[in-house]
Amino acid sequence: MQLAVKSESFEHDLAPDRRDASQMAERALGRVISCDGSRATIASAVSGASRLGPDSWTIGRMISINLGHARLVGLVYRIQAVKSDWQEHGDNAIHVDVELLGEVVEQDGRPHFQSGISTYPPIGTIAHRIRSGDLALVHDLGQRDGIAIGALSQDSAIPASVCIADMLARHFAILGTTGVGKSSAVALLLRRAISVKPKLRVLILDPHNEYSHAFPDKSVTIEADSLDLPFWMFRLDEFADVVFRGRPPMDEEADILREVVAAARGRYRVVANHDIARDLGASLLKRPLDASAPRPTGDPVAGSADAPTPYRMKDALAVIDELVGLHEIRYSRSALRSLRVRLESLYGDPRYHFMFARANMIETMAPVVGQIFRLPQHGRPISVFQLAGLPSEVVNAVASVLSRIAFDLAMSSQGGYEILVLCEEAHRYVPSDPALGFAPTRQAIARIAKEGRKYGCYLGVVTQRPGELDSTILSQCSTIFAMRLANERDQQIIRSAIADASASTLAFLSSIGNREAIAFGEGVATTMRMRFAQLQPHELPAMAGGHVGAQGRSEPLLEEMIRRMRGTG
Ligand SMILES: Nc1ncnc2c1ncn2[C@@H]1O[C@H](COP(=O)(O)OP(=O)(O)O)[C@@H](O)[C@H]1O
Ligand SMILES: [Mg+2]
Repeated sequence: MQLAVKSESFEHDLAPDRRDASQMAERALGRVISCDGSRATIASAVSGASRLGPDSWTIGRMISINLGHARLVGLVYRIQAVKSDWQEHGDNAIHVDVELLGEVVEQDGRPHFQSGISTYPPIGTIAHRIRSGDLALVHDLGQRDGIAIGALSQDSAIPASVCIADMLARHFAILGTTGVGKSSAVALLLRRAISVKPKLRVLILDPHNEYSHAFPDKSVTIEADSLDLPFWMFRLDEFADVVFRGRPPMDEEADILREVVAAARGRYRVVANHDIARDLGASLLKRPLDASAPRPTGDPVAGSADAPTPYRMKDALAVIDELVGLHEIRYSRSALRSLRVRLESLYGDPRYHFMFARANMIETMAPVVGQIFRLPQHGRPISVFQLAGLPSEVVNAVASVLSRIAFDLAMSSQGGYEILVLCEEAHRYVPSDPALGFAPTRQAIARIAKEGRKYGCYLGVVTQRPGELDSTILSQCSTIFAMRLANERDQQIIRSAIADASASTLAFLSSIGNREAIAFGEGVATTMRMRFAQLQPHELPAMAGGHVGAQGRSEPLLEEMIRRMRGTG
C-alpha cells in the first residue's frame, strides 16, 4: 500500500530538524498517537487527489521520530485509512503502524545508531521520513570491515554492506523460492569473499552444474568424467552407502564389508612395505621388526577399515573368496556372494569410473585432495564440484567424503587453511526428516556447522525449502539472507531460527521482489532490507550449456542428453 501524504500542514514543525542543505524539503509527516513499547502508531493525513510520490508512507520503509536529543527509527508494517470511505477533495486521515527498531543519538559530536529504545516518544511527537544519513547509520558496520553487496531497498543510493569475516565465521544461509536469485546471490557473495580474503578456499557442491560459468577465472571445475575420488578414500559407512546403493546394510553385510576392507588394507600395506624394503636394500630387512610395522598378511585387523589408506579391489574380492571357502561358516555364503557381485558390478560400471578406474594408480590422498581443495591454490580458490554428472545414488556419499575432508584439512592446518563449503540445495543432504538423507553426510555437515568456526571451516547453505532442511543446521547459520518465501511454514522457520527477526519484517517475505533479501544476523549491522547488486551476464551462474531461456540457445544434442542420462556426461 502506498499513500501520498499531505505535508504542508506540518511544514513549520520541520524546521529544527532540517540541518543539512541536502535534506529534502518535503517530507511525509505525522504525529505519534500511541505507543506500546515496541510499536507505535502515527496519525497522518493524505490528500485525496495527491499523486504517489517518494515521500509516501509505504510499508517496509524506515521512518524517524524526532525526540530532539535522539531520533527513533521505526519500520512501517501497516497503514490504513481511519475512515472506510475516501475523500477525493480534502484530507483523509490515516494510521501508520511502526515497529521501533532503535535510535540515533549524538555521541562525541557524531551521530550513532543503537538498537533498542531508551526513551519512548511522547504522544504528539513528530514522525517523518528518515534522513538518508540516518538510514546509512542504521546499517553502518562501525568498526567492522564491510563490503557492499547491493543497495538498500528503501534508498538505492545507500550501499548494503556485510562483514564477510563475520558472515563466514558463523556460517550463512540463503533461503528463497526458486528463481528469486539465490544462486546469483551466492556468486556475488563468493566474489566478494575471495576478494577480501584471498587465502580463502571455496568448495561448491553444485547439483545443477551452474557455477563454473560464474567464475571462469577463479575456479576449477571438477566434472564426473575427469574426477578421481578413489574408493579407498571413503569411510566404511560411506562406502557401504555406495555399495548398497543408498539402503542401510544389514548387520551381517556391514560386518562382512568391514572385515573385507580391513583385510584388503592390511594386504596392501604389507606389499607396499615389502617393496620399500627391497628398494632400500637388505640393511633394512636385517633390522628388528618395529612395533608399528604392519602385521602379517591375512590378519583381518591389520588395517583399520576406516584409515584412508589405499587397498586393491582385487584383494577385497580375494578375501571374499577365502571367506566363502572357509570350513567354519562365519557368514552366510549367499551374503558373501552377493557382496562380491555388488563390488564387481560397481567396479565394472562406467558411471563409477571416478571411484575405481584409476584408484590404484593413486598411492596417497595428496594429489586428489590437492586438486579438489585447491592446495596449492594456483590463483583459483574456488572448486566447483559438479554433482549432476554423478550417479544419483552416490551423491550423498560423495558429499559426505568431501565435507569430512574439508573439515579435517582445516583442523589439521591449525588455522593456516580456511575453507567455505557451500551446499546448494542443502535440504537434499541434511533433510529435516531424520529417516531421509544419509547419516554420515548429516554428521559431516553438522560437524562443520557446530565446530568448524574454531578451525576455519565454514558453511554456506542454500535452499528453496527451509522447512525441509534440518533445523539444527539452520540454527547454526548466524547470517541469513531471506529472499521471497511464500510459504507460511517456511517463514515460521526463519522466525524461529533468528532470535531478533521482528515479526513485522518477516511479514514482507512473501512479497519482496526478485534479487531482494532481508538480511539478518551477525554479518550485518541491523536487519536490512536490500537488493543484491546487478551482475553482468558473464558473472551469473548458468546451467551447463548456457542460460536456460537465453535467446538463441541451440537445440540440445541427443547424444549429449543420452550421455547425461547414463550419468557419464
Ligand atoms: N544479482 C543479479 N544480477 C543479475 N541478474 C540476476 C541477479 N539475481 C538474479 N538474476 C536473474 O534471475 C535469474 C534467476 O536467478 P537464480 O540466481 O538462478 O535464482 P535461484 O537460484 O533462486 O533459482 C538469473 O538467471 C538472472 O537472470
Ligand atoms: Mg539456484
